[in-house]
Amino acid sequence: MVHDDVPSSASRVRTVVVTGGALGIGGAISRRFAADGDHVVLVDIDEPAAERTRAAIAEACGQCTVIPGDITDDAVVARLAETVASDHGHADVLVNNVGDFRPAKAFFAKSPPEQWRRLHELNLWHVFAVTHALLPGMIAAGGGSIVNVSTVEAFRGIPGHAVYSAYNAGVSAFTRSLAVELGPSRIRVNAIAPDLADTEQTPAALMLAGRDPELLRSWLPAGRFGDPEDFAGVVTFLASDDAAFITGHTIPVDGGTLAASGWYGKASGRGWTNMPDQA
Ligand SMILES: NC(=O)c1ccc[n+]([C@@H]2O[C@H](COP(=O)([O-])OP(=O)(O)OC[C@H]3O[C@@H](n4cnc5c(N)ncnc54)[C@H](O)[C@@H]3O)[C@@H](O)[C@H]2O)c1
Repeated sequence: MVHDDVPSSASRVRTVVVTGGALGIGGAISRRFAADGDHVVLVDIDEPAAERTRAAIAEACGQCTVIPGDITDDAVVARLAETVASDHGHADVLVNNVGDFRPAKAFFAKSPPEQWRRLHELNLWHVFAVTHALLPGMIAAGGGSIVNVSTVEAFRGIPGHAVYSAYNAGVSAFTRSLAVELGPSRIRVNAIAPDLADTEQTPAALMLAGRDPELLRSWLPAGRFGDPEDFAGVVTFLASDDAAFITGHTIPVDGGTLAASGWYGKASGRGWTNMPDQA
């Protein structure tokens, strides 16, 4: 069944807002939406990187506007909302991609409260702020799609990053509840939960730290790190008409780590073990 009055991924140029859309997963998301014919409004704290992504999109005949700034800054969120309203009327798709585990001390008992505040701003607060700023336009337009970027760490324990994990569980909880609230407004709300992406935040070389790449076989069922494009494809799918009946869910994009949870490929290559020292 076709809903004529709902913005369609196939019928016209959509306005797609991507926070942290310059590098890593967000960069791939920006490039992918633009390649699909959408106009990307990219917000990023790294202005030179954002300009490079905009130039690459333009080179490929895509459309992209850059709004430089820290998405945790209210003034930047206000500038984003004003630009979207004045140049595009409303956003059809919002991807809340910014998130970072790095401002953290390894041991919660020794972590200072300022650190929890910054993790809150970087992982959850801006998701509320940007969504709140763009939602009235989406509701008035009669529909749209929001895709949040959570993490697998929202669904399993991660020692040393309890606060990051808690805020991302918040992203997934927000996703679920908002999806219910916005169903009647024909706005779908979903999330992805990445793991082991090869990005500027978590470069594969740093994660391997000189280890044999063959070991990846024992770390995760897919046997490789995720390319940013692996995540972008799922985000664009969730924002497309092909996902018209999916809302309120967080889709793990993790090469199977959550499914395996605690199971490791044996070093011998013969089967799996939940005893990491077993050959
Ligand atoms: N890399 C992984 O393996 C992994 C795993 C789980 C979840 N995630 C989540 O995926 C998302 C993207 O991760 P990534 O690895 O691509 O990150 P990244 O650090 O490689 O890229 C993040 C992008 O956001 C921009 N950015 C950072 N802080 C910003 C701010 N305050 N305001 C505006 N822009 C800002 C950066 O300049 C960069 O362009 C994050 O939410 C992260 O938590 C990543």
